[in-house]
Amino acid sequence: MTRPVLVHTRADLAARLAPARAADSRVGLVPTMGALHEGHASLMRVAREHVGDGPVVVSVFVNPMQFAPGEDLDRYPRTLDDDLKLCEREGVDLVFAPSVDEVYPQGEPMVTVEPGPLAGVLEGKTRPTHFRGVLTVVVKLFGLVRPDVAVFGQKDYQQLALIRRMVADLCQGVEVVGAETEREPDGLALSSRNRYLDPEQRHDAVALSRALHAAREGAQYGVAAALTAARAELRAAKLVDLDYLAITTPELDELPADVPPGTEARILVAARLGSTRLIDNMPLVIGTTGSPDVSTEGNS
Ligand code: PAF
Repeated sequence: MTRPVLVHTRADLAARLAPARAADSRVGLVPTMGALHEGHASLMRVAREHVGDGPVVVSVFVNPMQFAPGEDLDRYPRTLDDDLKLCEREGVDLVFAPSVDEVYPQGEPMVTVEPGPLAGVLEGKTRPTHFRGVLTVVVKLFGLVRPDVAVFGQKDYQQLALIRRMVADLCQGVEVVGAETEREPDGLALSSRNRYLDPEQRHDAVALSRALHAAREGAQYGVAAALTAARAELRAAKLVDLDYLAITTPELDELPADVPPGTEARILVAARLGSTRLIDNMPLVIGTTGSPDVSTEGNS
């Protein structure tokens, strides 16, 4: 195993990527905020599958622009040494860990990415400026790394949908790959924020994935039954303070009132456990049992 090259500046990043560009190799990017876990490792493996011998770049940057005042920017875990070890294990070539000044040399940029109406629903209701910050930093990372392919987790489903939309609408020329959610053996979706949970909260946090599985079962009887089944699981977990539970189209549009059996949909949940906010989602099919990718979405 070779240790990945760690760079902190745009200039070093460009210099390190120059040989790969000269050789016309495919470049893969896994944008992260660090505090890496097995979920990120799976994104790195997906990136590797897409670039072959080309370089896999992991960016580690806690992006202030996507945190509102009062959110967890200051306490967001910064674990670069451990992150490098995980990147080494996964055969990552380059880790780009810039400072805030390196990414935003003139402070918050005057021109930002306007994410449009999709950023106003679900997460956007409680975090109205979040996706503007996410898309702005992603577009900057695309500009700096110039990847052929970028891999994001399906756990942040709304983020993934918005990035896909941005790439299409703004002709970014990057292939966006959505990697499946990695889960703990009991079903809890892996997240850097899980480390904030105390044992009781960790115990109740599994209700989120249980609720999604219950909804998938209930979905054979329709949307209302799916939501009822999910809510029952969430109510049973005393420490879960539900923010939203919604069933949408896979593109996150509102589902029409009457959907024909076999309609593919997405169920999304967000909840607080103490001061920690967790999100999760799964595909489901209305009016039938199970879902096309039931076997690939983890277990519970
Ligand atoms: O999903 C994340 O970790 C972040 O939102 C991202 C995409 C790295 C942008 O800061």
